[in-house]
This record gives sequence, C-alpha cells and structure tokens, in this order.
Amino acid sequence: MPEPSLWAVEWRRGDETLTAIEPSADEVRRAAPALAAYYNDAHNRRMMAHEDDPFDAADVVAYYHQLRDGGGRPFLLQREGVLLGDADFRHPEAATAEFAIMIGDRATQGRGLGTRFGLMLHAFGFQVLGLERVYISVIPANAPSRALFQRLGYQVDDSPAARALIDDASDVTLSLARPSFAEAWRVETAAIRCFPRPQAS
Ligand SMILES: CC(C)(COP(=O)(O)OP(=O)(O)OC[C@H]1O[C@@H](n2cnc3c(N)ncnc32)[C@H](O)[C@@H]1OP(=O)(O)O)[C@@H](O)C(=O)NCCC(=O)NCCS
Repeated sequence: MPEPSLWAVEWRRGDETLTAIEPSADEVRRAAPALAAYYNDAHNRRMMAHEDDPFDAADVVAYYHQLRDGGGRPFLLQREGVLLGDADFRHPEAATAEFAIMIGDRATQGRGLGTRFGLMLHAFGFQVLGLERVYISVIPANAPSRALFQRLGYQVDDSPAARALIDDASDVTLSLARPSFAEAWRVETAAIRCFPRPQAS
C-alpha cells in the first residue's frame, strides 16, 4: 500500500534554508536516537513537563506512531538538512489542533529558530490543513515558549476547548485564529513553500 502523502515546508531566507518534513518510517527511525537525546535533556524535560522514564530510540518511534494514529502530523525540523528538533499538530478536531515544538540542542535555542519554524508550520496548519484555530498548552515557567507563541500572535485562551488540553491545572493555554496569523505574517508566509514530498525514503 503506498504511504499517505507526506508534506514538507521550506523557507529560504538569505543564507539559511529551513525545512520541516513529515518523515517516512525510515526517516523517523534514523532521527530517533538524536530526538531521544533531546527529549531526555534535563532542561527540555522540565520545560515540556515530561515526567515519564527517559526516552530511548524505540520509544520515539512508538511515539510518532501513536501521534499519527491519533491523526497528528509530526515534522522533523532541519537547517541545511541537519536535524534541529521536531514539532507537531496533535489532537485534531474539525478545524482545530494543538501545536507543540522543540528545538532540541540547548546551544541552538534562543536564536530565533523556534519562532521561524513555528511560523512555517503555522503557515502549513492554516493553509494546508485548513485549521481555523490552533491551541498550545505550556507550563508557566517556560518563558521562551510563551514568548515564542505570543510573538506569533497567540493570546491567553481559557475556553473549555483550550483547557481540555492541559496536563496540569497550572498550565497556561493560548490560541491563535487563522485571520490574525494571516494578517500579521503576510510578508513572511508569502516566502514559505508548502508542498507534498516526492515519495520519501
Ligand atoms: C521553546 C522553544 C521551542 C523556543 O524556541 P527558541 O528557538 O529557543 O526560541 P526563539 O529564539 O525563537 O525565541 C522565542 C522568544 O523567546 C525569547 N526567549 C528565548 N530564550 C529565552 C529565555 N531563555 N528566557 C526568556 N525568553 C527567551 C526570545 O527573546 C523570543 O521572544 P521575542 O520574540 O519576544 O523576542 C525552545 O526553546 C525549546 O525547544 N525548548 C525546549 C522544549 C520546549 O520547551 N518546547 C515547548 C513546549 S510547549
């Protein structure tokens, strides 16, 4: 059976080419050891409130399967083809989903990459998936994540739909509607290309 269509999102900006790809099963397997190391970093674990046992590569592969089985759309994030992290849309409803993102290496965080990949994937979510609203849920201590999403245009959202996504009562929930995003990021999104990948290997 052919694999379902997998998409890529690309943003060439000056010397930098950022690509977010929906990985094939082989690509997930190849990325899994590096992703496991990123997920297990003590700071990242705290920020993402991962309280389970450390991940190994097999757990990452299983986690990607689980995300996709639930209708999620996970992406690997690459700069000039080098893996930097991952991101996904999860808990899809008719026209909404939750978004999550990780720039894995501590030395690479805080340099605007999360914001740029976030922009790229929201272009995909609103333009290709046809989402009308995207939610995020974050622990209060995760200042970089809150700043990233507020920069993208997210606002605090305490509606039942948003609060349904929390893991802990103290989590902060925000959301972003398609028109606000489209208006604020018209220039940038015009340069972002979303396309179905040729059959990935
Ligand atoms: C959260 C994360 C995706 C942000 O990506 P990033 O590339 O590090 O962030 P950026 O450089 O794009 O910065 C985003 C904003 O956070 C601010 N910021 C960055 N590092 C910061 C820090 N250590 N403390 C406070 N603010 C910080 C930036 O100034 C920027 O704000 P601005 O747009 O108002 O200038 C990334 O740090 C990460 O993956 N962390 C670990 C996993 C995680 O927390 N994921 C999110 C779970 S919801």
